[in-house]
Amino acid sequence: MINKFFEMKNVNFNIDFTLYNSKNALSDDVAKLMKAAEKARQKAYAPYSKFLVGAALKLENGEIITGNNQENAAYPSGLCAERNAIFYAGSKFPNIKILQMAISAGSKSKGANKPIAPCGACRQVLAEYEQLQNTPIELYFMGTGGEIAYSKSVENILPWIFDKNML
Ligand code: THU
Repeated sequence: MINKFFEMKNVNFNIDFTLYNSKNALSDDVAKLMKAAEKARQKAYAPYSKFLVGAALKLENGEIITGNNQENAAYPSGLCAERNAIFYAGSKFPNIKILQMAISAGSKSKGANKPIAPCGACRQVLAEYEQLQNTPIELYFMGTGGEIAYSKSVENILPWIFDKNML
C-alpha cells in the first residue's frame, strides 16, 4: 500500500466594509459624488431590466466622470454603469488617478433598498485600473433605502483576483 502524505491548510479572505445609514453621514465631497451618481442613474437606459444604475468617478484632477447602464435588445450587448464610467475615464484621462467611485442603483419594478455592490465583471475591470494606478479606488454604493456601503478599495471586494501577473 502506498502511503500518501499531504498537508492542507485553510486560507481566509476578509472583506471589511463600512455601512453609513444615510447620506448625511458622508463628507460633503462624497455626498456630492453620490448625488452625481444618482443624477446619472436617472438617465440610465434600462428598458429591459428596469434596473437603473449610475456611477460617478472622482479623478485626482478634480474631474467627476459619470456613466449609467446602457441596455440593448440583444441583452449581452449592454453594459453596466461602472464600466461605462471607468472606460470613459480611462479613454479621456488615461494617466489621471481615480480616487473614488460612487454607485447608485434602483429598480423600477421591485425594491433595491440595500446597497447594491458592483457585479463581478465590473469588479474585475475596476481592479485593473486600481492596479495600474497603484492607488486604491474607494467605493461607495447604495440602493434606494438610504444606506451606503463603503469599501476602501476594489481589491477588498475582489479577493483572489485574476490579474496581469498571472499571464
Ligand atoms: N448593472 C449595472 O449597471 N451595474 C452593476 O454592477 C450590476 C448590474 C446593470 C446591468 C443591467 O443593465 C441591469 O443593471 C440589470 O442587471
